[in-house]
Amino acid sequence: MTPELLARELEASRARSLALLEPLDEHDLVRQVSPLMSPLVWDLAHIGNYEELWLLREVAGVEPLRPEIDRLYDAFEHPRAERPSLPILGPADTRAYLSGVRSHVLDVLDRVAFDRPLTRDGFVFGMVVQHEHMHDETILATLQLRGGPRTLPPDAPLPAGRVIPPHDDVLVPGGESVQGTTTDPWALDNERPAHRIHLPSFRIDRVPVTNEMYAGFVSAAGYDDRRFWSERGWEHLQSSGRRAPMTWQGDGAGWWTGTRFGETLPLERDVPVEHVCFYEAEAYARWAGRRLPTEAEWEKACGWDPLAERLRRYPWGDADPTPSHANLGQRASRPAPVGAYPAGASAYGVEQLVGDVWEWTSSGFDPYPGTRAFPYREYSEVFYGGDFRVLRGGSWATHPTAVRTTFRNWDLPVRRQIFSGFRTAADVPA
Ligand code: AVJ
Ligand code: FE
Repeated sequence: MTPELLARELEASRARSLALLEPLDEHDLVRQVSPLMSPLVWDLAHIGNYEELWLLREVAGVEPLRPEIDRLYDAFEHPRAERPSLPILGPADTRAYLSGVRSHVLDVLDRVAFDRPLTRDGFVFGMVVQHEHMHDETILATLQLRGGPRTLPPDAPLPAGRVIPPHDDVLVPGGESVQGTTTDPWALDNERPAHRIHLPSFRIDRVPVTNEMYAGFVSAAGYDDRRFWSERGWEHLQSSGRRAPMTWQGDGAGWWTGTRFGETLPLERDVPVEHVCFYEAEAYARWAGRRLPTEAEWEKACGWDPLAERLRRYPWGDADPTPSHANLGQRASRPAPVGAYPAGASAYGVEQLVGDVWEWTSSGFDPYPGTRAFPYREYSEVFYGGDFRVLRGGSWATHPTAVRTTFRNWDLPVRRQIFSGFRTAADVPA
């Protein structure tokens, strides 16, 4: 960890944010596409405000640059639905504010003492970089809801898949393992500390559930059959009128196309289903005679090395992801076909755990034993014990710095504007 490396990571996340928003006109930047999302210019200013709060005020003791704007960009003071009615900065002011914050940060970077809990191993810089990349993924979700015309760059080619039978699954033998981390320098508070867990044996799908598999559930009238749905899932299905994943389009004869950033494309059979909510994932699993994995099962299947008896940072080991390990970092705007990443397999042979789609687990978002809110309660602590479900593994839109074996994401069980899919699991008879 060096100031040069931190400057490079800060620069990379900023280049990404600006490139995402660069093709959009003033109207697209200030309007609210959906009550679920912020105006894009709010996300951008909030990114800069977060950097100012943590890197200038907390780390360097610099006075507020524009004290009057702090409250506008406090996510807790203003829920997403009310953000468009705030007197927020316009696009040009926002860009000027961000570059002012950034040049100040680069000025002080060389004088930072990396010996405080906040700065050790560059933690707070890593937190700010991850925060920006998380909001970039949120911006992508907003662009998906916005529809066309497409503003994203063309997709880089993704590796071809291979044929994997539905619910081809692997056995993860029962026993002790470790969940969470104490030592990963940029791990966020909710991933800490490492603690021993004991799980019974279970089976877990080698790859995520595909469009073709999910279409089987839809055409078997899965959305009309109460037996597959939890009580709350069924209730939500009735009030929402959902009939298929968010982006699917079809007619009485079937589901043939999906929309992606405003383009209408054929549904790819062998690609992980995307934009499903927790209730849909749960209902599919019940229909298939299976269940969702728990968060602990997912993490063991992803990172546990039974020979070394330690948790790997990624399924394949501790080495940083490359394009042959995982579909991460928005190289393309879609998940890759199943079977495309044999080199990214975990110790148990489970594939595509990291990248492609966020995977719903059956677990609520709860604190680990012995965890401590750090450096602020509003990242994780205020969400513990709420009505959230944990998602794991990141999506094609997730930057490598913002995902690892231990990384935890969460959302409400009805949400599906995120790049969410799932895989299933099964008990092993004793
Ligand atoms: C971890 C993705 C649930 O977007 O609500 C962004 C990340 N926290 N700003 C969210 C976050 C503060 C958070 N998630
Ligand atoms: Fe934020």
